[in-house]
Amino acid sequence: MTTDSRPAGLDDAAADEAARAAGVRVQPVAGHIGAEIDGVDLAAGLDDAQVAAIRAALWRWKVVFFRDQRLDHAGHVAFARRFGDPVVLHSRGGASPPDFPEIETTADRLELGGKFGMEHEEWLRRRRHTLLRGWHCDHGARIDPPAATILRAETVPPYGGDTTWSNLAAACAGLSAPVREFVSGLRAEHRLGVGYQPRPGEDAYVRHLLDRQVASVHPLVRVHPETGEHVLYVNGYYVEQITDLSRAESRAILDMLLDEATRAEYTVRFRWEPGSVAFWDNRATIHLAPSDNAHLGFPRTMHRVMLAGEVPVGADGRPSEAVTGTEPGRW
Ligand SMILES: [Fe+2]
Repeated sequence: MTTDSRPAGLDDAAADEAARAAGVRVQPVAGHIGAEIDGVDLAAGLDDAQVAAIRAALWRWKVVFFRDQRLDHAGHVAFARRFGDPVVLHSRGGASPPDFPEIETTADRLELGGKFGMEHEEWLRRRRHTLLRGWHCDHGARIDPPAATILRAETVPPYGGDTTWSNLAAACAGLSAPVREFVSGLRAEHRLGVGYQPRPGEDAYVRHLLDRQVASVHPLVRVHPETGEHVLYVNGYYVEQITDLSRAESRAILDMLLDEATRAEYTVRFRWEPGSVAFWDNRATIHLAPSDNAHLGFPRTMHRVMLAGEVPVGADGRPSEAVTGTEPGRW
């Protein structure tokens, strides 16, 4: 379906033709977001037609899923390089496998509490009371958040641990015209650690956050550099306050926008299997990390590669501004 109002970067007919030419099957799984891609072996390397088809599906569906893949770390990085420049995680080097600084490995969240001196039960309890597990785009407080993320599952729990994404371009288009116009002129400060509620007394995690402050002012509506779509650029994890508004005004408007951004019809939920790969547009989506598996104690090992992004530009033409702890291209 092509409509006259659709931005030039989203040409459905061209996307269908690209998929046909590449022998790739793109099967949408929800009305606004998410498609499974069959007929491609990511470990075998991609030809240009396959890359074009996957890229078109990604712009159209915001997150694409591949199943039963057999990527190793080198294959994962090679796949990512076909679509951009993988970010090298200097500050998280300890979480990367040897020789693969582009890959961040999460051997579940079970280890995180211990890292900051908390008992596992305490960590789970605190996470339940904070926004830390909330909706976010990856590294959204940076001045140049990643353009995309490629997450690959190695070990997954037999149940629980699903990830959910929401389409922020659909959310923006779904706003009433007066509200969309109003918020298109606004900006908000995004700050690492906003949602975390410290424990009374010592809290190693708060000290960790204070030592590594990262904050930027981003437009509430950004223009996607590839598709031209307007994106409602909010999340529950990083957004501190709408600039120039009172605290009360900001809270009410942010709550309303977050409700819009995460309406069920804009979301898709993915059931991971070993060998599953999810590739999402980190500019046009937010996602919800699973919160229903840690208490079960099953192992869950995921590997993440992110593609470098650019400084966002608002619907009003103004770019984002760094506040603290972040520079374009510096990780
Ligand atoms: Fe994430």
